[in-house]
Amino acid sequence: MSAGARVSPAPPAKRPAVTLSRLAEKKALGEPIVMVTAYDYPSAQVAEAAGVDVVLVGDSGAMTVLGYPSTVPVAVDEMLMLAGAARRGLTTPLLVGDMPFGSYEVSNEQAIATAQRFVKEAGCDAVKLERGGSSVDRARAVVEAGIPVMGHVGLTPQTATALGGYRSQGRTAERAIEVTRDALALQEAGCFAIVFEAVPAELTETVMPQIDVPVIGIGAGPATDGQVLVFHDLLGIYDGHAARFVKRYANVRQAMIDGVAAFAEDVRERRYPEPEHGYTMAPDESERLRALLADS
Ligand code: KIV
Repeated sequence: MSAGARVSPAPPAKRPAVTLSRLAEKKALGEPIVMVTAYDYPSAQVAEAAGVDVVLVGDSGAMTVLGYPSTVPVAVDEMLMLAGAARRGLTTPLLVGDMPFGSYEVSNEQAIATAQRFVKEAGCDAVKLERGGSSVDRARAVVEAGIPVMGHVGLTPQTATALGGYRSQGRTAERAIEVTRDALALQEAGCFAIVFEAVPAELTETVMPQIDVPVIGIGAGPATDGQVLVFHDLLGIYDGHAARFVKRYANVRQAMIDGVAAFAEDVRERRYPEPEHGYTMAPDESERLRALLADS
């Protein structure tokens, strides 16, 4: 090779699609599992390019992209539109769709019908539902219908009012036992993974030896098998209140504001567009145009 020759970087190795067994294998090997939320085509493409293992189309999208004050109002149809867009941006991570409040609690039939829509209409690989209690039966029914289910215990935002608000859970021994029972019941119902949200690290550490499926934490300490953060929180896109467990890895919102403000200023100062941003006409064509207009 001659001096100065350019060496093209090797194309990124194509990763095999992440499956349920790969997640179980990662747990067994002690390899941390990375999950992020995504709600549209570009955020899913970012998750894909960043090499995450699992993408959750979380009902947090109700707040981060749809502007609702909580996750409660979001409809199944809205979630399906977000999930379908995320699907089109992904090939490798496992795609999990969050079943929204009111779409699975009434009966096992309702839960199965909603889960089937996430798989058939949006192309999700799995669904997520919140809470123990009656959700355990719903999880079992959906798993028996052939759709993988991710559970979610601790702070469950869909029922935050009943939990006393958006606050950490399981901080007394009695409440910690309740969270533990929920997690064990969801595992027994066949969930392939469980999210632990906003619970003390000590609780997680104590329970982990009893949980055979991957546990993905968010504000649950370091003992889990993986961690999840909301896309808009970790990138600093969302302007609302951030929970204690959020770590900001970028300030994308400010970068977007700066970009749009710079565009606005360029337009107002007539600095944009410049010649390279436009199209030209051959001189003889513009000549002919002037002649045609003069004749008309
Ligand atoms: O909706 C969501 O984003 C979630 C994650 C926080 C786990 O449920």
